[in-house]
Amino acid sequence: MGHRAVIVVFAALVLAFAPPLVAQVPTTFTNLQVLPKDIAQRPLVDTMRRFVFALDVRCEFCHVGEGNDLSKFDFASDAKPTKVTARAMLKMLASINTQLAPIGEPSTLPKATCFTCHRGARKPLTAPAGGGGDLRYN
Ligand code: HEC
Ligand code: HEC
Repeated sequence: MGHRAVIVVFAALVLAFAPPLVAQVPTTFTNLQVLPKDIAQRPLVDTMRRFVFALDVRCEFCHVGEGNDLSKFDFASDAKPTKVTARAMLKMLASINTQLAPIGEPSTLPKATCFTCHRGARKPLTAPAGGGGDLRYN
């Protein structure tokens, strides 16, 4: 086997034996204040993954814990201010989507998401590089 093949086989083995993310995350939740309290694990984890991609962060940006073993995380804790902010963002986004719904083409999906503003940044840009004029008037 060439080097490349060894790496491919190794990567496949790592993927096959690493516990899937869902196996390390609780299946019932004790501190949901914005998301539905009875949300199933799958949509909860999908939502969290979208946060991760929208801000280009890891779970520990908002949750107490570190490393790759998510079973040791305390997901219910509100100790990190970023989690509290993210909750406020969820509420803001719901209000934005209510206002956007009647504008433009009808859509069954939300028109704005975390990614709409964040685009992979923890704090979204407010103007293009090179300036955006007087920001008070957008
Ligand atoms: C940008 C911040 C952010 C990131 C990143 C994030 N979360 Fe969350 N997470 C939240 C917020 C906010 C809540 C609470 C939502 C609510 O109150 O309805 C939450 C709740 C949870 C809960 C429910 C805890 C409970 O018992 O109430 C779990 C489990 C969870 N997140 C897992 C994850 C996992 C796994 C990742 C990484 C893949 C992740 N989160 C990444 C913000 C984040
Ligand atoms: C309308 C635009 C907009 C949307 C939509 C939005 N955000 Fe934000 N978000 C911001 C802005 C602007 C800031 C920076 C606030 C500041 O610190 O000045 C921010 C800051 C944050 C922070 C704090 C980052 C830090 O480094 O302290 C988190 C966490 C966050 N947003 C999560 C989310 C999540 C999760 C969503 C989707 C539920 C979301 N945001 C949707 C505009 C947005």
